[in-house]
Order: sequence, then C-alpha cells, then structure tokens
Amino acid sequence: MDDQELLAEAMKVRVNAYCPYSNFPVGAALLCADGSVYTGVNVENAVNGLSLCAERVALFKAISEGKREFVKIAVVCNAEYCRPCGACRQVLYEHAPDLVVLMGNPEGTFNRTTIRALLPEAFSL
Ligand code: THU
Repeated sequence: MDDQELLAEAMKVRVNAYCPYSNFPVGAALLCADGSVYTGVNVENAVNGLSLCAERVALFKAISEGKREFVKIAVVCNAEYCRPCGACRQVLYEHAPDLVVLMGNPEGTFNRTTIRALLPEAFSL
C-alpha cells in the first residue's frame, strides 16, 4: 500500500470521529507488516482526560487483533500537517520504533517522516 492509499484510508475514516467537544476530527490508518490496515478516529469524552487520539485507537485495534509489526501510519486532520501529539508519539515508539509517519491534511498534501525523528531520545525500558 503506497502513501497516497494509506492517507486515503485515514481521510475516509475521519468522518467517524466522535469529537463534539473539539469539533476537530482526526483519522488515522496504520499499515501492519502483513499488509493489513487498521483505522482509527479520535473518540472524546465529557470527562477531561478520557479522550483517545485517532493514532492510539488505530494502534490498539491492531494490537488487540494480534498484530505486532507495523510499517507506516497516516494521520489526517484539518491542519497544515496533522502532527501526532506527544503521548501518541511515545505509544507508537513503544510498538514501532522504525515507524514511518505520514502527516496529512484534507487537501491531500502531506509530510513524510519517522517516529524516531518526531521523538528523539525516546524513553524505553
Ligand atoms: N487528536 C488526534 O486524535 N490526533 C492527533 O494527532 C492530534 C489531536 C485529537 C485529540 C482531540 O480529540 C482533538 O484531536 C483535538 O482537541
């Protein structure tokens, strides 16, 4: 699956975001080493701190289905480029330190980087 196709999956799922508090829908699509793709959206909550970002929803869906090797994640939101938050960077790094990250927007342009570049000197046990 090429970059454009993965970004298209993230864009497609973004409409399912549950974000009544921020009105800021985010879509993510995670490519696993076996070629499967898991998508996620942000899921917010009236209680502050209980919301989950799209990236972690996609990753946790994949892990709970038994996936352990990840190649690339695409994230799309209405920003210049959709940059994953610090918490998601740490969580993604734990499971995929060599992950490629595509940071996109609804216009279809994107930035291609890596989780190592986004989280230098990352903590791990
Ligand atoms: N959000 C994500 O889902 N992923 C990101 O990369 C940035 C932020 C969500 C969190 C929250 O639901 C909303 O976007 C912004 O307040």
